[in-house]
Amino acid sequence: MARNKVTVVGAGNVGATAAQRIAEAGLADVILIDIVEGLPQGKGLDLAEAAPVVPHDAHVIGTNDYADTAGSDIVVVTSGIARKPGMSRDELLATNAGIVWSVVKAAVQHSPDAILVIVTNPLDAMCHVAMEASGFPRERVIGMAGVLDSARFRAFIAMELGVSVEDTHAFVLGGHGDTMVPLPRYSTVAGIPITELMTPERVQALVQRTAGGGAEIVALLKTGSAYYAPAAATFEMVESILKDRKRVLPCATYLQGEYGADGLFVGVPVVLGARGMERVIQIKLSADEQAAFDRSAAAVRELVTAMANLAAGSASGS
Ligand code: NAI
Ligand code: 2OP
Repeated sequence: MARNKVTVVGAGNVGATAAQRIAEAGLADVILIDIVEGLPQGKGLDLAEAAPVVPHDAHVIGTNDYADTAGSDIVVVTSGIARKPGMSRDELLATNAGIVWSVVKAAVQHSPDAILVIVTNPLDAMCHVAMEASGFPRERVIGMAGVLDSARFRAFIAMELGVSVEDTHAFVLGGHGDTMVPLPRYSTVAGIPITELMTPERVQALVQRTAGGGAEIVALLKTGSAYYAPAAATFEMVESILKDRKRVLPCATYLQGEYGADGLFVGVPVVLGARGMERVIQIKLSADEQAAFDRSAAAVRELVTAMANLAAGSASGS
């Protein structure tokens, strides 16, 4: 049986690390593509040369030509610019919208049946760009953010309580930004809600650290943003799709009335399988949680509107 094929657009920190994880798990052959000549070829060759030691049999190549990506099952989009200290995700809007539009157009021309996993920031807005550029149904355009944000929450819970990360579960809903909505009530250690295991003050501190998790890493790295955890989160989504595992994972999904949002990508729990985003899982939110979700959705809506205005402005030459 032929191996699956995954294209990773953007051979930078997140893209190359995700490619490494996918190849080393033997999950799929990987095509790394970037606009910079030599970069994807160099990283692709380096990864291929690691294969005998790891070992794994997946093929990894780097290219600047979309013809090499033809017939991909999944296209992961990480191309774009990353945050620098003091820069918000939203400031990336205009530059990354243009990049995501052009790479998605090129990729889907060669892989019309692919599932798109979007990583580039600002995440929820870039999912809109990808859906429009591809013309794909919502099942095949999925954004990576909730798995990362939940992983951060889980890591902080484990550190706080001195327990294994394996026994932690966490749910973070909403847009991938400062207004994200970590849900302590649904965040557990071995099934026990964390609200039973720590004081409300400590729960709140962890919630705040999670919402600022991306910025915390940017402030430390100074020259870029997080990539090990983002790449691991991307891998988890790719694996669930290729192995049809039906994992229930928080992902940015185009909502059509669910959670009170319509025509908007926002993070909610979904089932990820061979058909992509197969089902939105609806949970009943408390009034406070719904209000926080609505605030987060409004922030995403604002960004999508700003993006549409930017596009209209550049089309009219203003
Ligand atoms: P990076 O700067 O290391 O890599 C980006 C790569 O994209 C570079 O190699 C660059 O040459 C390439 N690129 C730029 N324009 C391109 C084009 N037109 N075609 C092909 N490749 C192109 O950045 P990093 O750290 O890998 O982050 C990538 C993106 O992912 C950023 O927008 C970042 O904010 C976002 N991100 C999102 C996360 C999430 O939770 N959704 C988490 C971490 C990063
Ligand atoms: C993060 O959360 C930068 O969005 C990226 O690390």
